[in-house]
Amino acid sequence: MGSAAIRNSAGDETIFVPTGAALGAEVHGVDLRRLDDAQFAAIYRAWLDHSVLLFRGQALADADLIAFSRRFGGLDFAPVQENGRVSVEGFPELYVVSNVLGSDGVPIGSLGAGEAVWHTDMSYLPQPPKASMLFSLEVPAAGGDTWFSSMYSAYDSLPAALRLRVEGLRVKHDGTFNSGGFVRAGVTPTDDPRTSPGTLHPLVCRHPATGRKLLYLGRRRNAYIEGLGLAESDALLDEIWAYATVDSISWRHRWRVGDLVLWDNRATMHRRDPFDASERRVMHRTQIKGEAPPAA
Ligand code: OGA
Ligand code: MN
Repeated sequence: MGSAAIRNSAGDETIFVPTGAALGAEVHGVDLRRLDDAQFAAIYRAWLDHSVLLFRGQALADADLIAFSRRFGGLDFAPVQENGRVSVEGFPELYVVSNVLGSDGVPIGSLGAGEAVWHTDMSYLPQPPKASMLFSLEVPAAGGDTWFSSMYSAYDSLPAALRLRVEGLRVKHDGTFNSGGFVRAGVTPTDDPRTSPGTLHPLVCRHPATGRKLLYLGRRRNAYIEGLGLAESDALLDEIWAYATVDSISWRHRWRVGDLVLWDNRATMHRRDPFDASERRVMHRTQIKGEAPPAA
């Protein structure tokens, strides 16, 4: 897909520039605090088409981030993480991703400074968010890049025999560990995926808006394919995961302060590189309510 542009009533041009990777586009020429309906409609369309959108140079107060998020639908509250349900004072919808310590010595956010492994947000719930958006307030000099991969491309890249084998299966999405490897507050840690808290979802889903088939994997740790023996489930999951995280279907984002990244949480997975723990990284996230992922 090439670049596309639309104009709002004031004549300002909004330009969508695809990353050239399997997913993602950068949007130029918008201030997310002031979007007219035509601009928003074009952004919504581009979000479905490209799965991930990047807007640089935004100056969003927390209320602005929430207002833009609400144009996509109702918001979920921040999820429960290693320190409980950490959100921004007065904004229970704002999830904080940060390694910075508060005055009580407890991190103000989640995920620390280590790697966050490949995942889809909150897919351990029956109705995971359809979208997430992450806004950067402070970033380290190096590291902490966020990678996205296309679950449409992952499905399309499966060999025919594997495609047949996974059709109709359901997979357990674990609610024990977050992507940073931390145990969610209130959960007793277990590494038996058959009994761990979580939700079964179809492994091959049909995207409710685009109609395209995709692989719906969630996260690897404690994943389990319903009805199989543990070893058989692990072997099949390893085989599938090898297709879902390759560079050829991924795009890497290097953060600057003021970046807003919006992703289709049904059609993508993401991960984050580690960074120097003595540096500060502060991000605010919203998550937009979704529906139970429909089987293909
Ligand atoms: C998230 C997430 C990774 C990052 O906010 O859902 O996984 O780059 N963040 O901070
Ligand atoms: Mn995430």
